[in-house]
Amino acid sequence: MAAHVAVLVSGSGTNLQSLLDHPVTGPWIAVVVADRPGIAALDRARAAGVPAVVVDWSEHPDREAFGRAIHEVLLEHSIEYVALAGFMRILPGELVRSFEGRILNTHPALLPSFPGAHSVRETLAWGAKVSGATVHLVDDQVDHGPIVLQEAVAVEAEDDEESLHRRIKETEHRLYPEALRLLVEGRLKVEGRRVHVLDGNGDPP
Ligand code: GRF
Repeated sequence: MAAHVAVLVSGSGTNLQSLLDHPVTGPWIAVVVADRPGIAALDRARAAGVPAVVVDWSEHPDREAFGRAIHEVLLEHSIEYVALAGFMRILPGELVRSFEGRILNTHPALLPSFPGAHSVRETLAWGAKVSGATVHLVDDQVDHGPIVLQEAVAVEAEDDEESLHRRIKETEHRLYPEALRLLVEGRLKVEGRRVHVLDGNGDPP
């Protein structure tokens, strides 16, 4: 199946790498879009031979203009699905609605606990014993849409932000290609907040 997927990034791009390296999702990635120049994720895209585009957040007057510029790139590449992979900007509602049910995000916590940009730090500060990874569909609120895949990661007594995030990312790197595959194969049935994973024949498991 040929799918056209865009991956949006802001940083190191290890989740992008897991999508690129996965034998199913890798060939689907038609473009990588970064919100700033000079990040490692762009090097990963180029190393994989995937077009890498910078839509610089700082060069746009507001979120709507930034969103329109991203939308243009998505249209140029005939994008059908979008994967946010460490993308640190909130997409404008108009763009989210244009791709409704076709945008995924990965988050390093067990949503709805610890949404936002500092979830691992806040997990440790709260003293939680369990964290994890959540892959969810994107709606118009931050870290909020229906959950596709989710897996727990234990918090160890000696963990700091770096060590806990590293273990959570190992889980994200497994879950994210799987979730993208399920989405593109049309195997996600969304009922309100609940996402059912259909088997290969389109039937409930
Ligand atoms: C991941 O933990 C992702 O869930 C969060 O930011 C991190 C990005 O890491 N939103 P990377 O750029 O994929 O290495």
